[in-house]
Amino acid sequence: AALRAELEREGLPPVVGVAHLAGIARGAMLAGLDVELLREVAEPKVAGAWNLHRVFGDASLFLLVSALPAVFGPVGVGAANYAAANAFLDALAHHRRGLDTDAVALGYGPWNGIGLAVREGGLDQLSRLGVGSMAPAEALDVFGRVLARRPAQVTVARLDWPEVFTAVPSARATGQFAAFLDEFGGTGGSPQLLERCAQAGPQEQREIVGDYLTERLAAVLQTGAGDIDPQVPVVEMGLDSLMALELRVRVKADLGVVVPMVRLLEGPSVEQLTDHVLGLLTEVLAALDGDEEREEITL
Ligand SMILES: NC(=O)c1ccc[n+]([C@@H]2O[C@H](COP(=O)([O-])OP(=O)(O)OC[C@H]3O[C@@H](n4cnc5c(N)ncnc54)[C@H](OP(=O)(O)O)[C@@H]3O)[C@@H](O)[C@H]2O)c1
Repeated sequence: AALRAELEREGLPPVVGVAHLAGIARGAMLAGLDVELLREVAEPKVAGAWNLHRVFGDASLFLLVSALPAVFGPVGVGAANYAAANAFLDALAHHRRGLDTDAVALGYGPWNGIGLAVREGGLDQLSRLGVGSMAPAEALDVFGRVLARRPAQVTVARLDWPEVFTAVPSARATGQFAAFLDEFGGTGGSPQLLERCAQAGPQEQREIVGDYLTERLAAVLQTGAGDIDPQVPVVEMGLDSLMALELRVRVKADLGVVVPMVRLLEGPSVEQLTDHVLGLLTEVLAALDGDEEREEITL
């Protein structure tokens, strides 16, 4: 407000364009949030953008730089507070359009090379969940194109949709991505893996599931399968709660079984986890068997 008054006092031209980019990405999962963490991340986005809206309500360009979690919910790093703060920016853009004032909410997926996503780390983990990153030059090219078209809200990200639908089940549930879901959603689960389990005897099934869990765990821990000791508790090998979440999502997508988070965080070894998954898998395979029989009868 002081800046605006000063410009007027000095006879300078008015501010006609405002771009809001202030932000902090101190991510936390919902269960780990406290008021301070919520406030810290909300302040620059919610209070900051609202103050600019109040002072520069009449700006003929009002750009709000938002982020992918606003439309997906927290992905990978579990930034529930960051998702909420950015969702506010998207909502503000629509609010301003409703008031017949300009607004563009441009929600980016992660940039690589520079910026807060690089500093926060986690780009590798995101890419394993199907969320790729954009080079600054590419993202700036988009910036120009979005400003030329002026949509109220647009999200621009480099995504591998089949991976995203597997890793972020909430993306399946929202109607926003229906068109992508039709094209890239698949049926969930890995038919080949389940088929192999269905054909195998008990001992072979144990080997398939054991090898699968070893490979998945190694990917999540960013190590080689050879480094996984099947008798050492996964927590001792470095599995934290975010990694456990990632592992759980993959196992659900690939085998159709849901391993409770508490079970993972109790720190079972791969051998114990294999027993647990095999127990759950029995039901999935029985259902699969039932489906096949029904199909044969229909034919
Ligand atoms: N980089 C990405 O991959 C990415 C992807 C999607 C969306 N975004 C969004 O794009 C915007 C810019 O990202 P960036 O990568 O350029 O981040 P950045 O390098 O961390 O810059 C953020 C800026 O916000 C300022 N800021 C933070 N809190 C503030 C506050 N309370 N009041 C005033 N200024 C404050 C910081 O100022 P100080 O340095 O003085 O603290 C910093 O200049 C952010 O809103 C971010 O959410 C970024």
